[in-house]
Amino acid sequence: MAASRKKAKQAAADAVVHMVEDGMTVGLGTGSTASLAIEALGRRISRENLRVTGVPTSFASERLAREYGIRLGTLDTHGRIDLAFDGADECDPGLNLIKGRGAAHTREKIVAFSAARFIVLIDASKRVDLLGMHMPLPIEVVPMAVAPVMGCLRSLGARPELRMGMKKDGPVVTDQGLWVIDAQFDEGIPDPAVVDRTLLDTPGVLDHGLFLEMATDVLVGLESGDIEHLRRDAAVIRRAD
Ligand code: A5P
Repeated sequence: MAASRKKAKQAAADAVVHMVEDGMTVGLGTGSTASLAIEALGRRISRENLRVTGVPTSFASERLAREYGIRLGTLDTHGRIDLAFDGADECDPGLNLIKGRGAAHTREKIVAFSAARFIVLIDASKRVDLLGMHMPLPIEVVPMAVAPVMGCLRSLGARPELRMGMKKDGPVVTDQGLWVIDAQFDEGIPDPAVVDRTLLDTPGVLDHGLFLEMATDVLVGLESGDIEHLRRDAAVIRRAD
């Protein structure tokens, strides 16, 4: 990763760690930016002897949190998350997101939905006018449903492709043991709400990477090391309660 980009991600990661308070339950996202925040949180917990519990969104974030000495819980033991942080692949002007480059979007969405605040950490390159302009939309599917789900995606105007493993033959297998289809929308996704509903209504789809009206805050790390803090109007946030 370029040093300037890493500095921007680190700025967003450090900013969210400063928002954590003693006694909080914190959702731990997945990806390179969330990893920087997990590491910084672990260092702060041990420096200040904080009582913080982390709820991880993937095997990867669980392993990293253990390495940094963060006490872990689950949604069974800690159903109410005070603050969840995570990265994103794209963020539109309404703070809607595409996530799932790391195939962790299903657990990430569950944790975000259970959090009072869902704080997204990005660098400025992730901001787009229209979702899907640069990144494909990931969809987690039951293997036997790949063909019908691809048909559904084509009818929505996308070019679907099964995500294949690196350093593994065959498809990427998610933490749930399922597969991922990446759907490229060449002109971007004109109506994300329609794509959201259509996919969730399609048998065999577990979940997809559109996070609509979920982020309460977006921290945009800048290459100067500063951050820009974007907030959503609380009235339009999708939440578990
Ligand atoms: C994991 O599946 C993703 O949702 C990541 O959170 C997202 O891809 C952002 O990752 P980076 O912080 O590595 O860009």
